[in-house]
Amino acid sequence: MELYQSEPFYITYNAQQYNFRNCIEKLMGTSNLEELHQLQQYEVLDRAHDQSTVWHKKYYEQFDAFNTLYVDFVKNYLKPLLGIEKLVYQRIPTFRVHLVGNLAVGEWHKDRTYNHGSTEVNFWMPFTHAYGNNTIWTESKEDLADYKPYEVKPGEIFVFNGANLNHGNKLNDTSSCRLSVDFRIVDFKHFKPSDRGSINLNTRFDIGGYFEVC
Ligand SMILES: [Fe+2]
Repeated sequence: MELYQSEPFYITYNAQQYNFRNCIEKLMGTSNLEELHQLQQYEVLDRAHDQSTVWHKKYYEQFDAFNTLYVDFVKNYLKPLLGIEKLVYQRIPTFRVHLVGNLAVGEWHKDRTYNHGSTEVNFWMPFTHAYGNNTIWTESKEDLADYKPYEVKPGEIFVFNGANLNHGNKLNDTSSCRLSVDFRIVDFKHFKPSDRGSINLNTRFDIGGYFEVC
């Protein structure tokens, strides 16, 4: 499968073999991911606070437990699927929580506005059924502004050019919370390291920093 495509696309994987949901349930301490909003309430999150819930803290503090499965998945599933000889991947996938009545990401943007390289491709992987206003909205071509929500079911990953496409989310008016990670993949042949850092943790956009290689 070609990594660099002109429009967003989906890949599928075996969610029993790679049981990310189960892993996230353990990290969050509940199997009822769709109803996290019942456990902790937040004002509508803005850009400065969209990584600061108790759920984010649980994910990042216990990241090693997620990392084993993630690295196995990237090396043994995505890399052969994409047919890439040397693959650059985001070391710590970014965790998102889209609570009912809230936002997961505080502002609409193109990732390159936040120092991301233009050859990065975004892999958007939810652990809950993502649809309507609990999923991601994006345009399909740069500046086309044909925004729509992309439904993503268990066992699917939504792949899009987040560096260059404007994307965001809306107030979650569904009855279901959405939990997801997103991570970036680059073919090493097209990788351009940068000394600049990421917006949340100020991690350098280079291998050994924000990225790892396999
Ligand atoms: Fe983004």
